[in-house]
Amino acid sequence: MKNYIWQAGTDDNVDSTIMEFMAGEDVLLDRELFVFDIRATSAHVAGLARIGILKKKESRQLRSLLNDLLEEFERGEFILDQRYEDGHSAIEMYLTEKAGDLGGKVHTGRSRNDQVAVATRLYLKDSLHHLAELCGRIALACLRRAERQADLPMPGYTHLQRAVPSSVGLWMGGFAEAFIDNLVFARKVLQLIDCSPLGTAAGYGVNLPLDRVGVSRELGFERIQVNPMYTQNSRGKFEIMALQAALHAMQDVRRLAWDLSLFTTSEFNFISLPDQYTTGSSIMPNKANPDVVELLRGRAATPEAAVAEIQAVISLPSGYQRDLQLTKAPLIRGMQASLQALAIVPALVKGLEFNEQAMREAISVEMFATDLALEQAAKGVPFRTAYLDAKKKLAAMDAPDAAASLAQRVSPGATGDLLLDHLRHRLEKEMSATEGHPITD
Ligand code: ARG
Repeated sequence: MKNYIWQAGTDDNVDSTIMEFMAGEDVLLDRELFVFDIRATSAHVAGLARIGILKKKESRQLRSLLNDLLEEFERGEFILDQRYEDGHSAIEMYLTEKAGDLGGKVHTGRSRNDQVAVATRLYLKDSLHHLAELCGRIALACLRRAERQADLPMPGYTHLQRAVPSSVGLWMGGFAEAFIDNLVFARKVLQLIDCSPLGTAAGYGVNLPLDRVGVSRELGFERIQVNPMYTQNSRGKFEIMALQAALHAMQDVRRLAWDLSLFTTSEFNFISLPDQYTTGSSIMPNKANPDVVELLRGRAATPEAAVAEIQAVISLPSGYQRDLQLTKAPLIRGMQASLQALAIVPALVKGLEFNEQAMREAISVEMFATDLALEQAAKGVPFRTAYLDAKKKLAAMDAPDAAASLAQRVSPGATGDLLLDHLRHRLEKEMSATEGHPITD
């Protein structure tokens, strides 16, 4: 029989099947939040000392014990498991065991509602920093490929049908720009959620002059989240925003993975993957399958499903509802899956090998039709006439030189003027803004 911090006495009136239903998985998920919970508890203790609820000596003792707990947890000596209802109770029980009644003072002026909110908020911030950093690294890897093989001809497709000659520079530059956007998006979400919920208690504040601002500063938040009820109402909402940031990145990974799975087939044969990204078949000795790329493609499903699950859970009235606990599993699963997948991408991009000959051969004569029509249009022929003429002329033509066609396509951003320096400038600006979280490759 375990004890619960909220039990008034020691009556055994708690049904273990019901408790398992309510808390079973949750306490294991709290392992992901535990270090943040301990840090926030320590800041709360210091805040209580500043308003005279705890003596300086008491605060010092509690903070030192919290530090011990952190170290024991990180060394694997303190195991957070189903012996506890949740991580929050585990902290209080640890302190009470070590410091007796003093441990019972730690929860003054807070509720598990703002406690879980602050631990989750710190987890979100940490995840978004990590996400932004990964997006920056992917953008850099793509940009380098684009710069190195800027003019290498590659067919451009629309509807998956041959369209116009293009280049590796344009293809890879597209992913570089996408991941710069994803980096910026992650940062914007980070800015929005960078506010401390701690000190709002159950969602209505308390009759103590809590030093919310000081506690928020110690925890590295930009500001406090002002309204106690909104603090609870934003649970799930902020999780969705963070997961959406991860999802944007994962959807771009999915598109890149799709391209790679096509371009590495014998039919296209434009690109080969380094060996470590392929696996053999258990039955077909000839196979080298692009499993890594396929798993990257499929992985976007996880944050997408997480967003949908949280959206379904938060159809709720105002204030704390226990349903909100159910946002935790999809958040952690969606975030972990995304970060793990994104971490694979920079080295994959770096390792791609392009088959120049196959790409050139796939640039067939009809793909120059648009060039031809526009050449005439530039001389004053109405575009519609030039368009029809080009179609006729092409039948009798040999394929022109792809490199010349690429160089002539000078509309800003196109193969003759890729503006990769603009992308580099934007990326470098973002990278230098990563305070304490430098982006390197
Ligand atoms: N595990 C709970 C959650 O994630 C902690 C908060 C419990 N609060 C409560 N009032 N029962 O929401």
